[in-house]
Amino acid sequence: MSFKIAIDGPAGAGKSTIAKMLAEDLNILYLSTGEIYRSFAYGCKKFGINPNNQAVVECVPYMLKYDFQINNNKFQIKLKNEIINPYLHTKEISQTTSVIAKYPKLRAYCKQLQKQISDTNDVVMEGRDIGTVVLPDADFKFFVDADVHARAYRRHCELQKDNNSITLESVLTEMQIRDHLDRTREISPLVKSKDAYLIDTTSCSAREATDMILEKVLTKKHLAPTYETKPLTFKPGELEFHR
Ligand code: DC
Repeated sequence: MSFKIAIDGPAGAGKSTIAKMLAEDLNILYLSTGEIYRSFAYGCKKFGINPNNQAVVECVPYMLKYDFQINNNKFQIKLKNEIINPYLHTKEISQTTSVIAKYPKLRAYCKQLQKQISDTNDVVMEGRDIGTVVLPDADFKFFVDADVHARAYRRHCELQKDNNSITLESVLTEMQIRDHLDRTREISPLVKSKDAYLIDTTSCSAREATDMILEKVLTKKHLAPTYETKPLTFKPGELEFHR
């Protein structure tokens, strides 16, 4: 039986950074389910498919030639033989993804794929509906959240690296819109599972949050004794919320 950790939460709360650190510390697969949804938005853009055309978008996983691979605990997505993970985090892809992520057949496809991966791999799986819908039987569930202003500030710092003119207000507004879409959609809305630990990162670093999670994971008796953590490399004061 594989070992599964589910991490959910809104954008900008630091869940990707935390999930990645956790998977590295435990030496198991890190899976960003957002990247799977993003890959279908990318496919729409590349092949001129209107993201509002639900029926066509729901066929994208079958129509286009996707290949999902795991290499050295890293998840790679290929479209027509090209690795596309580096192109999935633009503003345009984020916006398109929040439109198409509500389509039921697309979600069903993603759920099946994610379940399949977790059946054969120990995994830290990160997303919006992992603890509630995809892996309700996960060994551990965490809901990573933070005040929306703190989240917008972090995302603003990240975006400024590429575009100095973007304002904090516009990042905040966009984040509130995305939050609203994620939390209010009919299928698999973003919601904390009752049995998930809440991790509030408003005023702690990603390393500190990861250590809180690690402590819970490693002290539970049912954790397989074969898991060994790597030495921690945290330097206090580092700005750690990044992709
Ligand atoms: O985590 P992320 O920012 O990469 O997610 C991109 C989009 O995909 C975001 O709008 C939420 C959506 N998503 C989802 O609906 N369900 C998931 N399990 C993961 C992401």
